Order: sequence, then structure tokens, then C-alpha cells
Amino acid sequence: MENMSEVVLWVHDLEVWYDDIQAVRSISFEVRRGEIFSLIGGNGAGKTSTLRAISGICKFRGDISFMGKNLVGIPAEAIVARGLAHVPEGRGIFGNLTVSENLRLGAWVRKDRQAVAADLERVMKIFPRLQERLQQQAGTLSGGEQQMLALGRAIMSGPQMLLLDEPSMGIAPLLVREIYRVLAEINRMGVSILLVEQNANLALRIANRAGLLETGQLVLTGSGEELLGAPRIQEVYLGA
Ligand SMILES: Nc1ncnc2c1ncn2[C@@H]1O[C@H](COP(=O)(O)OP(=O)(O)O)[C@@H](O)[C@H]1O
Ligand SMILES: [Mg+2]
Repeated sequence: MENMSEVVLWVHDLEVWYDDIQAVRSISFEVRRGEIFSLIGGNGAGKTSTLRAISGICKFRGDISFMGKNLVGIPAEAIVARGLAHVPEGRGIFGNLTVSENLRLGAWVRKDRQAVAADLERVMKIFPRLQERLQQQAGTLSGGEQQMLALGRAIMSGPQMLLLDEPSMGIAPLLVREIYRVLAEINRMGVSILLVEQNANLALRIANRAGLLETGQLVLTGSGEELLGAPRIQEVYLGA
């Protein structure tokens, strides 16, 4: 693995506004190479807006740079091509296409067919459930399987970094555990991860570093362990 202290994603004074409603209030944080950074927070805290700003889907104020290059004004497709893949809330798969077609769409920005084929094999190995269902319509998969497909599709874009929006939402506990096991595996392959979750317990346990978002503000940052032990988080987010 390369230098752990190298910053891959740098977010400075980020603000997201919807007309005159401010969803994200001047937050700053960075994600280092090889790291899992979890942003936790309740419903409406600004997690999704933060990810959408980073991946170029919504307008923002402030500065974002990825692997040393500014992302301000860069279109979403170009951001994917630079190695930043977003798995959105609700997963964003194409229900009327097959599993196989969805996976191949993940690789549309890439030209190296050999590397794409190698990544497809890798996805099949990580998600045997997808391999068994390659010709099945994606819309007929269970929620957990759809989340696996969304992750598999993101891997097919050959990312340096994944942005994951609540991968545990609406999924049976057994599959949630499976998905988190896979996230750790993807991270070990060298992919940095920015994870947002309402499920503080899961997200903090897997994180190297983490932050707590409340009404659009980053009110606490630290290691995953530090946040797991923070009284505010124990009381409000872990139900201790
Ligand atoms: N498209 C939108 N138009 C107006 N307000 C929005 C829109 N999307 C989100 N918001 C508001 O922005 C705030 C943050 O939302 P969001 O980023 O989705 O939070 P989270 O993902 O943490 O639940 C909320 O108050 C939400 O109502
Ligand atoms: Mg959200």
C-alpha cells in the first residue's frame, strides 16, 4: 500500500444550499489514502448532500479536491473517470436490466478491456451471489443483493475511492454483516472509502477515522474508536 498519510480527498468549507435552506454548513475534512472515513449523523444531517457535492451531482460552495486536483466545476462523469465512484442512497441500479448488464455499465468510462475483465472476475469472487444471478433482472434481487450489485458496479469503474451512502439501509441484518465484510475487503485492495451512515455502531467500528454531522455541521471528528467512546455519540447514536 502507498503512503497512508497522503490525502486523497480534501474538503474545505463545503456548503450546500437548496434555495435558502442550508443543508451543509461549512464543513472541512480529509480522507487519506487507504483509509475508511465514516460520516455519521441522523436523518437530515446533510450526509447525502455532502456526498452529492463531492461527486458533482449537486452545486456547492467551498473547495473539494481529489488526488490533488480541484473538483470545482468538473462534471460528474469526469469525476467517475478520475477514480471516484458514488454508490447513491437507494442504490441507483437499473431494475429492468440484468445483473450482468448493470455490472458492465459500471465500466463504461474505461477503455482497458483486460483490466475490466479482471475486475469482473474480482467482483464475481467477492459476490458469489451475483455470479449465480448474472442473467437475472436486477429489479428482482433482494435489497441486500441490490446493494451488492451497486457495490459491484462501482468496483467495475476501477475506483481509487468509493463514496457510499447508507449501504446498510433497509437490509436484513445477515446481509448487512456480509456487506460490511466486503467493504473491509474492498478497502484492503487499496480502495479508500468515504462512508455515510445512520448506523453509527457499524460505521464507527469499520472506520479508521470518522466525523459526526448534526444539522449540517461537523461537530466531532476523531478515530473510529474515539467516536465510539464519545459520550454524545453513546447517548444519542448508540442508545447507551
Ligand atoms: N433536493 C432538496 N431540496 C430541498 N431540500 C433538500 C433537498 N435535499 C435535501 N434537502 C434538505 O437538506 C437537509 C439535508 O438532507 P440530506 O443531505 O439528505 O441529509 P441526510 O442524508 O443526512 O439525511 C435536510 O434538511 C433536507 O430536507
Ligand atoms: Mg441521506
